[in-house]
Amino acid sequence: MKKTVLAFSRITPAMAERLQHDFTVIMPDPKRGDVNAQFNEALPHAHGLIGVGRKLGRAQLEGAGKLEVVSSVSVGYDNYDLDYFNERGIALTNTPDVLTESTADLGFSLIMGCARRTAELDAWTKAGHWQASVGPALFGSDVHGKTLGIVGMGNIGAAIARRGRLGFNMSVIYSGNSRKTALEQELGAQMRSLEQMLGEADFVCIVVPLSDATRQLIGARELKLMKPSAFLINIARGPVVDEAALIQALQDGTIRGAGLDVYEKEPLTDSPLLSLPNALTLPHIGSATAETREAMANRAIDNLRAALLGERPRDLVNPQVWKG
Ligand code: DGY
Repeated sequence: MKKTVLAFSRITPAMAERLQHDFTVIMPDPKRGDVNAQFNEALPHAHGLIGVGRKLGRAQLEGAGKLEVVSSVSVGYDNYDLDYFNERGIALTNTPDVLTESTADLGFSLIMGCARRTAELDAWTKAGHWQASVGPALFGSDVHGKTLGIVGMGNIGAAIARRGRLGFNMSVIYSGNSRKTALEQELGAQMRSLEQMLGEADFVCIVVPLSDATRQLIGARELKLMKPSAFLINIARGPVVDEAALIQALQDGTIRGAGLDVYEKEPLTDSPLLSLPNALTLPHIGSATAETREAMANRAIDNLRAALLGERPRDLVNPQVWKG
């Protein structure tokens, strides 16, 4: 008998078709009513879950007695209670690598957009304010030749650093747990303490995963260490930054601006950030290109199929549960 896969977020018809080949696939559908109720009803039958954007731990999964694997269509896995997964022997997989370059593109577009005020000036132009050449009040800041600070030099951080160094002649500094000697050689990057980096960088780009160690890593104290002319870019996870402290820093000029793709609470519907001209706000689109989302979906399906068919999945987050 085929095993059952339950999708916990929207999956494309192509994804469903690939899965249906080997599995019975259940997809909650808003047209049939409450998707949470449909999810909970199907959960006891599911051997595998696939999707993104749902918190899954003890409270949500207690009824999932047959569950073997959760395949997340994301690189980040802070939504999942890994201790509980390990206790239950549930495998967790993610989709690293395939989104590195697209997410770095987005990070760099936030750097450019903040510095040159592109969204703000687009709105200004469309509002019919362009009567004469813009004056100093609307001037931006240069990006080329400036200092780029990376908080968390993993694959995405390195891809942003390459764009800055090779495309924009920026100096690269970084903070983190380990030295990256190959990148230091490749890009002339230099490691700093977080505090030193915050004081030196013109653009501070946050690319660390969310964990107990990085939650609220950047608060009022850290923002005060930044230059008043500097920009904070967050493409990691909202809770890495104390959002109230950031709003205050943007309002009182402690820093020049922020480029944000992630927030403490998503979707961002009601926040002072939405009316601050020096906050460039995007709706968590780091990996949201057609090509990359397709690659992520395929990678997640590959992981799910492998796990349910008894082969070790390529992107196993918790290898200790794998008995195969
Ligand atoms: C990721 O893959 O982690 C993206 O941020 C989407 O959640």
